[in-house]
Amino acid sequence: MARAVVVRNLRRTYGEVVAVDDVSFHVDEGEIFGIIGPNGSGKTTTVECLQGLRSRSGGEVEVLGLDPGSHGTQVRQLIGSQLQESNLPDRIKVWEALDLFASRSRSAVDWRELAERWGLTGKLNAVFASLSGGQQQRLFVALALVNAPRLVFLDEMTTGLDPSARRLAWELIAAVREHGATVVLVTHFMDEAEALCDRIAVFHRGRVAALDTPGGLVAAHGGDSRVIFSTGEGDLSWLGSVPCVDGVARRGRRIEVSGHGAVLAHTAAALGARGIYPADLHFERPTLEDAFLNLVGGHGGQ
Ligand SMILES: Nc1ncnc2c1ncn2[C@@H]1O[C@H](COP(=O)(O)OP(=O)(O)OP(=O)(O)O)[C@@H](O)[C@H]1O
Ligand SMILES: [Mg+2]
Repeated sequence: MARAVVVRNLRRTYGEVVAVDDVSFHVDEGEIFGIIGPNGSGKTTTVECLQGLRSRSGGEVEVLGLDPGSHGTQVRQLIGSQLQESNLPDRIKVWEALDLFASRSRSAVDWRELAERWGLTGKLNAVFASLSGGQQQRLFVALALVNAPRLVFLDEMTTGLDPSARRLAWELIAAVREHGATVVLVTHFMDEAEALCDRIAVFHRGRVAALDTPGGLVAAHGGDSRVIFSTGEGDLSWLGSVPCVDGVARRGRRIEVSGHGAVLAHTAAALGARGIYPADLHFERPTLEDAFLNLVGGHGGQ
């Protein structure tokens, strides 16, 4: 499969600070590739190096076959970009910004249609400074798509969006991919990464701590599943020897059985064999958030 992005041993330092230490990954064409990681783990530095907006201190980068370090202008014509710290002049009107960005691109996208899809039609004559945070964010994402890019970088696209705008953004990103574009998505929302991304790189302290499909990350790093139920039954220590069970914890009437594989089926069968049929028995699988916390530790930043 053709590669939209190839990163080899990328390094970026700011004086003493090593923002990106030794990052390697590739993004296939047509893929939605996620980057997640704690604050300060090097996500924005990496995607801005890929867009030729920051220089690199070491390593090699190819974006659509070009080196963004030496061919930044060419790369930026082919990509769409929504930056974490985007900005526009206060007095520019929404339609002017869309028209300006559309006129700079070679492919003709109808920006009115894009404005409509992003719920900006009623704001076309409003100046940028008068938009709410979420409306500004919608405008930035619309501007990132206005040149019908082959590759789109979205850095915290949905931060500040209300829940329905966030869902809309997900649909639009999926649609962008269906039109054949590749998406690199930096996000702090685990549900977003899980729902949208084909593969996800987990950044930690300027390195890639893990890279896999969402399901692969959860299976490898998410930890145990839990079977939870309530019972007045006294001694449940025998549960510890049921297949696939790793541990049993009790809090009053509430029992939490942790385990792997077919722990639910084995636990339910073992309970049933002893005449215990708890009405509230349920199963909790580890999530991407569990995998994230296990990989980077629970205390966030570096
Ligand atoms: N222009 C700069 N000058 C000095 N240090 C910088 C600069 N930009 C980033 N850094 C440092 O590089 C590290 C990585 O920053 P970066 O913005 O890439 O992180 P991030 O993963 O995008 O974080 P966040 O989730 O908060 O957006 C941080 O320690 C940050 O302080
Ligand atoms: Mg960032």
